[in-house]
Amino acid sequence: KSIVVLVSGNGSNLQAIIDACAQQKLPANVSAVISNKADAYGLQRAKNANIPAVFLDHSTFTSREDYDRQLLAEISTFSPDLIVLAGFMRILSPDFVAHFEGKMLNIHPSLLPKYKGLHTHQRAIDAGDTEHGVSVHFVTAALDDGPVILQSKVPVFAEQDPEELAQRVQVQERQMYPLVIKWFCQGRLLMKNNKAFLDGNEL
Ligand code: GRF
Repeated sequence: KSIVVLVSGNGSNLQAIIDACAQQKLPANVSAVISNKADAYGLQRAKNANIPAVFLDHSTFTSREDYDRQLLAEISTFSPDLIVLAGFMRILSPDFVAHFEGKMLNIHPSLLPKYKGLHTHQRAIDAGDTEHGVSVHFVTAALDDGPVILQSKVPVFAEQDPEELAQRVQVQERQMYPLVIKWFCQGRLLMKNNKAFLDGNEL
């Protein structure tokens, strides 16, 4: 299966996916990495792995829809089976999302439906939560709202520093994202009527 990964930053999840493909833990290959940020380290990770690395600058487009049309065109040249959002820090327009319905995954660092959007680690600490975590979900038009496929929890300790909490969450991310992508590539995962199914069982 062919995967296109969208990033805006460091790309540690991207690296976990590249490594899982290389180690044949994932029956897939990353056909391209696209970033809306020129300095995203994820682009360098792609180059290091001889994967096409595309920078598509959102600041040169006048509207979100225009940018997303170009992004769609760019992605389509690689004929992917799956689109993976891995720290891609842009909201995607409804037409773009509809085009890849059931074929696009996101990882969000909270136990959804809690804490959609930004600063999730700080928000979990501020709320006094004793557990926090990360969710992988299918992408739908509403932000961080699609059906959840898998979650992983981490404890929140007293006087927790958000950076340290984020790091522990990210250890979980790098384990779970390749696993969910593997399920998808094996044809075991699908979205129907805004619900996620694994081996025909609703998640
Ligand atoms: C991760 O915490 C992910 O959950 C969130 O953005 C971060 C991306 O990290 N969506 P990286 O770029 O994969 O290192």
